[in-house]
Amino acid sequence: TGAFTYDPGFTSTASCQSALTYIDGDEGVLLHRGYPIGELAENSSFMEVAYLLLNGELPSADELSGFNTTITRHTMVHEQLAAFFRGFRRDAHPMAIMCGVVGALSAFYHDSTDIHDPVQRTIASHRLIAKIPTIAAMAYKYSVGQPFLYPDNSLSYTGNFLRMTFGVPAEPYEVNPAVAKAMDRIFILHADHEQNASTSTVRLAGSSGANPFACIAAGIACLWGPAHGGANEAALNMLREIGTPERIPEFIARAKDKNDPFRLMGFGHRVYKNYDPRATVMQKTVREVFDALKVNDPLFDTALRLEELALSDDYFIEKKLFPNVDFYSGVILSAIGFPTEMFTVLFALARTVGWVAQWNEMITDPDQKIGRPRQLYTGPTQRSYVPVGQR
Ligand code: CMC
Repeated sequence: TGAFTYDPGFTSTASCQSALTYIDGDEGVLLHRGYPIGELAENSSFMEVAYLLLNGELPSADELSGFNTTITRHTMVHEQLAAFFRGFRRDAHPMAIMCGVVGALSAFYHDSTDIHDPVQRTIASHRLIAKIPTIAAMAYKYSVGQPFLYPDNSLSYTGNFLRMTFGVPAEPYEVNPAVAKAMDRIFILHADHEQNASTSTVRLAGSSGANPFACIAAGIACLWGPAHGGANEAALNMLREIGTPERIPEFIARAKDKNDPFRLMGFGHRVYKNYDPRATVMQKTVREVFDALKVNDPLFDTALRLEELALSDDYFIEKKLFPNVDFYSGVILSAIGFPTEMFTVLFALARTVGWVAQWNEMITDPDQKIGRPRQLYTGPTQRSYVPVGQR
């Protein structure tokens, strides 16, 4: 057995030291480098938050413009990378495509990514942040059978992504500023979140000295699961299945039934035992997007009512289950025009910033070692081999 602490799910084990993100789950507080997520979401841009996470301080105007220029310099992907998409069935889940294509980036930069060289580390970090929107948009274009669009570096990071996703070569594409702002805010809300499963995966993969592009691909694989980043897709599918507010009690009863594996998707969190501060901003953003697009989606009313009924139910109160970031994001993303399969891709796009910042922090940590958890062995004790004819 050995003298190890047994902590399944790492509920009480700190795997690293980090100066990036602070969460107080009881109070519902989330700070990036000390700044509250609500203030960043209200006043900042995704590029500014990326700079903050990577460098520790908010940029000056000159620093921000320099950072934007650096990122846009890397937005194109190698022409040969397009060939990877063609290997996938057109109905492949875009997260499967993301795992493969982002992992494939390592083949393009393996020889020029010495992780012990700070300059090469920085270039790899910028490449990842810059190319992820291009690859995400290509995954979407491939699924709908439209041509890939090259990046337009005269646009903002988020405006460029929207154009690569929804634009077509035959027509000019006007970025709707309100939609771009909302999308940018959604990216801010997903940028980093401490040592969650996918970030821990990136750190663990990187702890062996693996190429950062491969490490981010590992993070994408982990994010895909419905208990993590896949919850935004699952939450919208659940709201669609519920359909109308009248059916909510039936689903709440199912979520409470221990013999039914059903859970309210977009509800509950390992760390937040209070309202997820990202969900507060997300709920507000739904109305802004609906106003900007002059649309309404009855699923939003269903979501609001579901929240209200769940939060007045003893089961959810006792277990401290509140809406998380994924509860309202699907309603917005669907209004903007993304199919549900793309939701987790958007999460991956934004979280790449956090993964990259955490990977850099790990590589430069003087205490860094290969991650190597131990176990409690529960198998048989030593026994002798029995030849096959005697078994
Ligand atoms: N609906 C119904 N019951 C729930 C839910 C839910 N959404 N979440 C947790 N519970 C119950 C669970 O059954 C358990 O009950 P009991 O103590 O009687 O066995 C108790 O609450 C604690 O749950 P847990 O699974 O032990 O808690 P955890 O910290 O391991 O899991 C979680 C956290 C987020 C995986 C879980 O709350 C969940 O599955 N939520 C739904 C999926 C979801 O929305 N995930 C997104 C998380 S936020 C974004 C991200 O991280 O990517």
